[in-house]
Amino acid sequence: MFDLARPLVLIAALALAATPALAQPAPSTPVSGFNPTTSAVSEGKLLGAMKEVTGTISIPDAKAAVLIQPEGKSWRDFQRGTVPLLSAVTVLGMIGVLAVFYLVRGRIRIEGGPSGRTLRRFNPFERFVHWLTAGSFVVLALTGLNLSVGRYVLLPVIGGGAFSELVELGKFAHNYLAFPFCLGLVLMLLTWVHHNIPNAMDIEWFRQGGGLIGKGHPPSGKFNGGQKVIFWIVVLGGGIVAASGFLLLFPFVFAGIAGMQTAQIIHAVLALLMIAAMLGHIYIGSLGMEGAFDAMGTGEVDETWARTHHNLWAEQEIAKKRAPAE
Ligand code: HEM
Repeated sequence: MFDLARPLVLIAALALAATPALAQPAPSTPVSGFNPTTSAVSEGKLLGAMKEVTGTISIPDAKAAVLIQPEGKSWRDFQRGTVPLLSAVTVLGMIGVLAVFYLVRGRIRIEGGPSGRTLRRFNPFERFVHWLTAGSFVVLALTGLNLSVGRYVLLPVIGGGAFSELVELGKFAHNYLAFPFCLGLVLMLLTWVHHNIPNAMDIEWFRQGGGLIGKGHPPSGKFNGGQKVIFWIVVLGGGIVAASGFLLLFPFVFAGIAGMQTAQIIHAVLALLMIAAMLGHIYIGSLGMEGAFDAMGTGEVDETWARTHHNLWAEQEIAKKRAPAE
C-alpha cells in the first residue's frame, strides 16, 4: 500500500507545482477594453482582444512562454479552409479554361506546314536552366498541393499508411528542391533578362491578343509580350514564393510566429497563382501549339514556326545563318 501511494503522491505534487507556472497568464498581458475576470466576457472576445497569452518560464527560450497566440486561430482557419478551397478552384478552374480553349481553338498548327528547315532557338545551357527550374517547380507544386488538398483527394483513395509515407517523402522533396529551384531562377534571370525588357511592341502584341484577335500575327522578337509576362511571373513570383518558403524552412531564424503566419499566407497564395500561370504555359508549350516543344526539346525550331510567332527574331537568325556564305 505504502509503495503504491508514494509515486502517486509524487506525481500529484509535481502536477500542482507545474500548473501555476505554465498556465497562469502573466499579469502584464495587455487586455484593452475588457475585464478578463467578468463572466460576461466570452473566450473568443477575450482572445480577440489579447495579442498573446504568456506564462512564466525559467528556461532561456522566451518563445516557449507563449501559451496562446489568438491570431493563430484565424491563420489555422485560413490554412485548413481557405487554402484547400483556393487550391481546388485555381487548379480545376485553370484546367477547365484550358480544356474549353482547346475545344474552341484546337491545336495551333504551323501555318502552311513545317518548312523542314530549322533554326537554333535555345542552346543546351538554356535548356538545362529551363528544365532545372521547370522540373523542380513541378515537384514543388505537386508536393505543395499534396500538403493543402492531399488529405481530401489522396487519403481516402490510398489510405492512411501510404498517405503518411507519401506526405513525408513529399515534405523532404519540397524542402530540398527549394534550392535547385532558386538556382534555376537566378540562372534564368541572368540568361534571359535582356530578352525580357518590356517595350512598345509588347503592347501591340497584347492589343492583338497574341494573334487571336484579328488577322495575322503581331510582330515579336525572341520573346513576345505573353512570354515576358511568364518570365517575370517566374522570376519575381518564384523569388517571393522562395523567400517566404525559406522563412518557414528555418523557423524562428528570420521571423517570429506572426511573421511566419504572414509568410505562409503569401507563400500559399502566390504559389497557387504561379501554378495557374504555369499550367497555361505548359499547355501552350506542348499540346496547345504545334512545333513549340521542340524549342526546349531539341533546341531547334521550324523556320515557318519561327517566322510566324517570332518574326523579328527569325529574320535576324536567318540573316546570321546566311552571312558566312555571302
Ligand atoms: C513542365 C512542362 C513545361 C514545358 C513543356 C515547357 C515548355 C517550354 C517551351 C517549349 C518554351 C520555349 C517557348 C519558345 O520557344 O518561345 C518554354 C519557355 C519557358 N519556360 Fe517552360 N515549360 C514547362 C515548364 C515550365 C515551368 C514549370 C517553368 C517555371 C517555373 C517554365 C518557365 C519557362 C520560361 C520562363 C520560359 C521563357 C519564357 C516563355 O517562353 O514563356 N517552364 N517552356
